Amino acid sequence: MIVVIGSINMDLVLRVPRMPLRGETLTGGAFRTIPGGKGANQAVACARLGHTPVAMVGCVGDDAFGTTLRAALVADGIDVSHVTALPGVATGIASILVDEDGQNSIVIAGGANDELTPAHIDAALPLMARATIVVVQLETPPDTVRHAIAMAHGMGKTVVLNPAPAAALPASVLAQVDYLVPNEIEAAMLLGAHADADDYAGSAAALQAKGCRNVLVTLGAKGVHAALADGSRDFPARAVKAVDTTAAGDTFIGGLVAALAAGADPAGAIDLGQRAAAIGVTRHGAQTSIPYLNELEPS
Ligand code: RIB
Ligand code: NA
Repeated sequence: MIVVIGSINMDLVLRVPRMPLRGETLTGGAFRTIPGGKGANQAVACARLGHTPVAMVGCVGDDAFGTTLRAALVADGIDVSHVTALPGVATGIASILVDEDGQNSIVIAGGANDELTPAHIDAALPLMARATIVVVQLETPPDTVRHAIAMAHGMGKTVVLNPAPAAALPASVLAQVDYLVPNEIEAAMLLGAHADADDYAGSAAALQAKGCRNVLVTLGAKGVHAALADGSRDFPARAVKAVDTTAAGDTFIGGLVAALAAGADPAGAIDLGQRAAAIGVTRHGAQTSIPYLNELEPS
């Protein structure tokens, strides 16, 4: 089993010709609500890109978005027994603008995601005990994330951390991570103000020196720089015409984790994640864009 602990959002997506300026009103946008949230996206990607059972741990509100988002997870065969609907709390939302180049700007209102506590993690320990891999991100409270990582690591699970949105983390947490998957900005943020996002290879090496066994820096159209336990390698991305990069990182992580759970080596797992993300960026939305295993091009 794969257990994904994290955020569940409804994405409120507006496609715009270009990003508005401060104080400006634009017309001509198209609006959709699309299931999202980094945690839920990664759970869906794990489910669609492999055959290992997936369970999600997170919180929604007791509102219409929460009901829809839970149903979306169930539709992908995901165990939602530890997705808690909290009374009187709003489900998390992400307000997303996507321009004609496929670039996005996102503002999140965490809502129920901000109420995921260490007690929810403790309640899910029997579930985690059945897992081989536990996946976390940073869209839920930091003390909950730290507790989840400590518990998973203590139980001998493979811990995958996507440190997004960017934040600093103590070295004691990094030392419990088997696969750290930041983008270049998040990699620099983890190292503090002095780090340079352009020196992603230096960041990856420095994060590995802090104790992360494998550091995979996602570089968008440039691919992935991987500092693996047995050496560094670059994995160029396939050239595709991106229409919407929302959840590209989540799709990569889901493919990576699904392949690791199936016994792939790190290079093979990175390749599967990249093939999945290459399809995802050619489609609109978060969970709407995540492909199934049988859609991937052979490597
Ligand atoms: O990684 C993409 C996700 O980030 C979106 O689905 C949005 O909900 C935000 O959490
Ligand atoms: Na997409």
